[in-house]
Amino acid sequence: MSTLIGTDYKYAAECINRDETVGIPTETVYGLAANALSEIAVTKIFEVKNRPFFDPLIVHVKGISEIDKYATDVPILAKELAERFWPGPLTLILKKRSIIPDLVTSGGDTVALRMPNNELTLKLLNELPFPLAAPSANPFTYVSPTSAQHVFDQLNGKIPYILDGGMCEVGIESTIIRVTDQKIEILRPGGISQEEIKTHFPFCELIEFAPTHLKTIVPGQLEHHYSPFCKLFPLNEFSENIDEFDAVIFWEKENNQFNIPSIQTFYLTQNGDFGEGSRNLFALLRKLDKGSFKKVLFEWAPNTNLGVAINDRLKRASAKRQMNI
Ligand code: TXA
Ligand code: MG
Repeated sequence: MSTLIGTDYKYAAECINRDETVGIPTETVYGLAANALSEIAVTKIFEVKNRPFFDPLIVHVKGISEIDKYATDVPILAKELAERFWPGPLTLILKKRSIIPDLVTSGGDTVALRMPNNELTLKLLNELPFPLAAPSANPFTYVSPTSAQHVFDQLNGKIPYILDGGMCEVGIESTIIRVTDQKIEILRPGGISQEEIKTHFPFCELIEFAPTHLKTIVPGQLEHHYSPFCKLFPLNEFSENIDEFDAVIFWEKENNQFNIPSIQTFYLTQNGDFGEGSRNLFALLRKLDKGSFKKVLFEWAPNTNLGVAINDRLKRASAKRQMNI
């Protein structure tokens, strides 16, 4: 099977109706989507991605009114969060209804729901009578794709179609949240920052990097997740023997205080804009792999706002080095 790329969401719907998996654009990263209510289709997601079955999938819905179809005992605060941030990069962990197959939730009693903010994918969802299970469309542990071409580069021949929505606007995955009473727990930092949540929900207690309570540690939490093939080293820890490195990634081009003329230089942002930094991160890591860079220094982003999620991905991408894999 050779993989087609295009903007024909009706064709994407046809493939999905046949229990196939399809690459879909979202504002965060591209997903590998299939009918969330079909065990046959969901099994294919795990096979194509080479993903272990113990890692549950996010279910993508077309609207807030879908929440009660797939989740039960939904806290009012969860609905308020959805009203404020959907469609958008916010995933809610809720108590699952039995209509969601155990395969999707890895046997757990919670389901992750999100309404993505991408026009084509929303059109696709509106063609379908069921929601879409979709993990990021990258092989297990590799960097997430932020363009249709990224998906094609790795999944060509394994899926029939990639719906092309251009470059992802946010560029890093959704913020995963669990809600209890007036407490908001962030399980994975992502496209909606803590600051943004606090601004809109000032009276809620916010807990950063909360444990997931899943039975096993899932790859999103694995140290070496999101790893490129090149080895990444934080600049602050490796300021000596600079010549051993092939390249350096700085956070900001303007106002950059360092200068390392002997190696190739990349920047995540022009002047420190967090949105620009998150949009560029995964594409740059892929570019380094394509350019066969082996040892790359990087500068941490300022650890506020979306910088927290960017640094989380940089930490995981560089952890491969420590695990020696
Ligand atoms: O932005 C995103 O969230 C993208 C796009 C495609 O929507 N999706 C994404 O999916 O990042 P994935 O599979 O790469 O990451 C989903 C994370 C995993 O770490 C998984 O363990 C966690 O969500 N997750 C899913 N269901 C969960 C649950 N019931 N409880 C806790 N964590 C859950
Ligand atoms: Mg992923």
